[in-house]
Amino acid sequence: MTTVYLNGAFLPLEEARVPVMDRGFLFGDGVYEVIPVYDRQPFRLHAHLQRLQASLDGIRLANPHSPGAWQSLIDRIIAAAEWKDQGIYLQVTRGPGPRDHAFPETINPTVFILPLPLPEPPAAAVEHGVSAITAEDNRWLRCDLKVTSLLPNVLLRQLSVDADCAETLLIRDGQLQEGSASSVFIVLDGLLLVPPKSNLILPGITYDVVLELAAAEGMRHAVRPVAEAELRRAEEIWLTSSTKEVMAVTRLDGQPVGSGQPGVLFRRMHARYQTFKHRVMRGKSAP
Ligand code: PDD
Repeated sequence: MTTVYLNGAFLPLEEARVPVMDRGFLFGDGVYEVIPVYDRQPFRLHAHLQRLQASLDGIRLANPHSPGAWQSLIDRIIAAAEWKDQGIYLQVTRGPGPRDHAFPETINPTVFILPLPLPEPPAAAVEHGVSAITAEDNRWLRCDLKVTSLLPNVLLRQLSVDADCAETLLIRDGQLQEGSASSVFIVLDGLLLVPPKSNLILPGITYDVVLELAAAEGMRHAVRPVAEAELRRAEEIWLTSSTKEVMAVTRLDGQPVGSGQPGVLFRRMHARYQTFKHRVMRGKSAP
C-alpha cells in the first residue's frame, strides 16, 4: 500500500480524491517538484524547495508550508514508503473554484505528495547510451517554472516515444535549450558546455550538481548558449535529471554522436556522480 499526503491527511493512494472543480484539473493551474531520495535520504531537498518557492512565486500562489513543514511531510512519506530509493512527487494547485480563468477570491490550495519507486537508470542505457531526436521548442516563455500544465512537454516527449527514442531535444531560434524532461549538456572539442539558465529552460537541480562535479573533477566547462550546429557536431551529448541522473545520448536524429558510444568525459562524470551520491547517502557530503 502506498501512503500519500493530501491536504492535511496521510492516506492510501487508492483513497485520495480531489474535487473535479480543482483548478489543477481544469486549467493545469499548479506547480510540482520531483525530489530523488537515496536510501531514504532526500537529495538536494533545500534546492528543490527553493525551486518550488520560485515556481509558486511565478504563478502568484502563496506557499502553503514553510520549508521545515515541507520537510516533515516529506520525511513521513519517505518513511512510510516501501522503497529505499524514491522519487518524491509533490504538487500544489490553486485548488477548487468556479470555472473562471481569473483566480478565485478565496484560495484553498491542493497539496499532494506521492512517493514513487526510483529504479537505477538501466545498466544497458548507461553502458551504450540512448537515442534522441530534436524538435522545435514550441513551449511558452516561462519554462523556468515547474508547472503542471505540461501538455507541450507531453506532446514533445511523445515524438521521441513514436521514434523509439528516449528524449526529445528542444531547439528554439537555432539554439539548444533542454530536453522535454531533462537538461542537456554537450562536449565540443573537449569542452563541456551547457546553455545558461534563462526563462526558456528549467533550472535543473542535477544541472547544478553536474556543474559542481565538473569543477571538482577539473573538467573544462563553460555555461554559454549552444547553437544547433554545435549540438550536431558534438563529441558527446548528456541528459541530466533527478530520475535519469547523467545519461549519454549516442544517436541523435538517427546519426551516431561522436564514436556512437558513451564518451570518455561521460564515463568520468557518471562515475563521479555515483561516488557523490553514495557519499551523500553515507552522510559524508552535504546533500
Ligand atoms: N523533469 N528540464 C525539464 C523540462 C524537466 O522536466 C526536468 C526534470 C529537468 C531536470 O531537472 P532536475 O535535474 O531538477 O530533475 C530539466 C522531472 C524529473 C519530471 O518532470 O519528471
